[in-house]
Amino acid sequence: MKNIGIITSGGDSPGMNAAIRSIVKTAYYYRINCFGILFGFKGLINGNIINLCTIDVKNIINRGGTILKTARSKEFETKEGRKKAYKNFKKKKLDGLIIIGGNGTLTGAKIFEEEYNIPIIGIPGTIDNDIYGSDCTIGYDTALNTVIVAIDKIRDTATSHNRLFFIEVMGRESGFIALNSGIATGALNIMLPEKNYNINNLFKSIDKGNKEGKSSSIIIVSEDKKIQKAYSLAKITKKKYPNYEIRVSILGHIQRGGNPTCFDRVLASKLGFFSVKSLIDGKYGFIVGSKENKISYTLLKEFNKKKNKIDEELIKISKILFF
Ligand code: F6P
Repeated sequence: MKNIGIITSGGDSPGMNAAIRSIVKTAYYYRINCFGILFGFKGLINGNIINLCTIDVKNIINRGGTILKTARSKEFETKEGRKKAYKNFKKKKLDGLIIIGGNGTLTGAKIFEEEYNIPIIGIPGTIDNDIYGSDCTIGYDTALNTVIVAIDKIRDTATSHNRLFFIEVMGRESGFIALNSGIATGALNIMLPEKNYNINNLFKSIDKGNKEGKSSSIIIVSEDKKIQKAYSLAKITKKKYPNYEIRVSILGHIQRGGNPTCFDRVLASKLGFFSVKSLIDGKYGFIVGSKENKISYTLLKEFNKKKNKIDEELIKISKILFF
């Protein structure tokens, strides 16, 4: 293993830079050269590849986003696209790749590995926390903290106006951000895709809150990629409770930015180190993650056969704490 390429692809997440820094510094320690592939898989297709030295990763551990930039590449989903990418992989004399990203990215990594038998290690980097093989993904903790700061602020105005707020958070098809931020902010209800956005349960909690003299409330809605779910739920709720003053707030991309938390920096540093170690030891075709605070290796081939499940216990607790 002489030359390693690093890719960040798909939605960025806070802590990706900390992972890049860790990979470059670990590689330097083991006398391996690092190359940065710019704009995700698109950069591999176009040969947009740069040398990465330790000086390039100075003062980035604290920065959100990714210095390598990112993109969602449609071309990489095609055989022709991946063929071009492989040509550049060979041309640059790369021996292995470390690919940081979410579900779509790691699926791309899996297909690329299967087609060309390339040494690849995947690192879970996404705010959604939906990668099987790691209890937490890089960026999830930071996003959660951003979300609760925003919700706390919305609560101030909700309370002043006696309003019901529907706050939509990201997560793609997973309710991790919604569930945990909802618990952390004392939301009246948490609308989850995993529970089919149970509207009857929402009405029950509004009625209960009403009886207890609640004059303002926060309802967290996990996004639905097809529609603006918070708006549609607010509309249905307004029909049933016409006297309520209802507002909607979609938190959006603010959740993806900002300085990574300590947790994300440490997680990224650990996963970066072990991904390089793994390539050196000839152990590849894996996602390097962290399970129960231990480094775990999940076969790239297998990772999307299973899903990270949200904590049912936490849902039970949240139902008790609502009332
Ligand atoms: O996967 C990360 C994520 O932020 C999701 O939570 C969200 O659905 C999506 O990316 C948004 O993607 P884009 O930035 O391409 O609009």
